[in-house]
Amino acid sequence: METAAETGSTFGLLTDLVADGGVVVLSGAGLSTESGIPDYRGESGRKRQARPMTYQTFVGSVAARRRYWARSHLGWRHITGALPNAGHRAVAELQRRGLVAGIITQNVDGLHQAAGASDVVELHGGLDRVRCLSCGERSPRHVLHRRLAAANLGWDSAAGEINPDGDADLDDDLIESFTIVDCRGCGGVLKPDVIFFGENVPRVRVQECYAMTGRAALLLVLGSSLTVMSGYRFVRHAAELAIPIAIVNQGPTRGDAQAMVTLDAPLGPTLGALAAQLCPAT
Ligand SMILES: NC(=O)c1ccc[n+]([C@@H]2O[C@H](COP(=O)([O-])OP(=O)(O)OC[C@H]3O[C@@H](n4cnc5c(N)ncnc54)[C@H](O)[C@@H]3O)[C@@H](O)[C@H]2O)c1
Ligand SMILES: [Zn+2]
Repeated sequence: METAAETGSTFGLLTDLVADGGVVVLSGAGLSTESGIPDYRGESGRKRQARPMTYQTFVGSVAARRRYWARSHLGWRHITGALPNAGHRAVAELQRRGLVAGIITQNVDGLHQAAGASDVVELHGGLDRVRCLSCGERSPRHVLHRRLAAANLGWDSAAGEINPDGDADLDDDLIESFTIVDCRGCGGVLKPDVIFFGENVPRVRVQECYAMTGRAALLLVLGSSLTVMSGYRFVRHAAELAIPIAIVNQGPTRGDAQAMVTLDAPLGPTLGALAAQLCPAT
């Protein structure tokens, strides 16, 4: 734990680095916890004991897909209701001021874009769209949501009583009574357009992120434990190229030893203060 004076000087160093521009942001679930979306490995994640769906489980059985879509149908309300927080707004503001050259996010919630950021690379895809595993067609999630609601009239309210925040386990009976729907074009299996555990990020997307990282003057990690190799590899890449790395995260991360600056602080207030210093109102 740092003292207040140490935190202050670390914040000053971070501000100086960001002020020089060329910042590539690598964000994780910790950036969205202040918007009410739980992470996996921080405080909110530990309470939740989340066990994420794997690709193999999802494609392996219709029962697994029914379970996924039943829970997700309820959880979707929560995700679409979430608003960007001060951290997302600060990143967008720094980008508008030309200090942020690129944003790579491991998040699937779309909150960077909702805050006004542009050209966000969604490393793990986005929950706002759905993909057919047979014909490859992508379609908006809200269309599927309407179809699922129509196929499950009354189901929502029964589930809602048991599970007001969409985050608790659903009764097996309730899951078995949930009807899933297939691709309207070809009858194929629909999957959210996100990368599940056990699935690889498309090669071109990974290459794009390596290239962005390689051009960075600073790699700024925001709210990621970097436990998942998918994000951590860009920290390794930056370290190999001697590109400075700064990490703002509550709790330790796998990249701490490679970082020039680590700041253990809440993201909303920290990034808000950073943007206020570097982007004074005109
Ligand atoms: N919001 C989302 O889209 C979301 C949510 C959960 C999981 N995921 C997926 O799961 C994986 C999780 O890996 P990850 O590294 O992104 O997350 P993680 O859960 O492994 O790590 C999040 C880190 O953020 C810290 N943190 C939480 N709230 C914070 C705050 N307000 N200020 C500062 N730090 C805070 C936690 O202590 C933790 O160390 C990703 O691959 C992602 O695709 C996405
Ligand atoms: Zn199809």
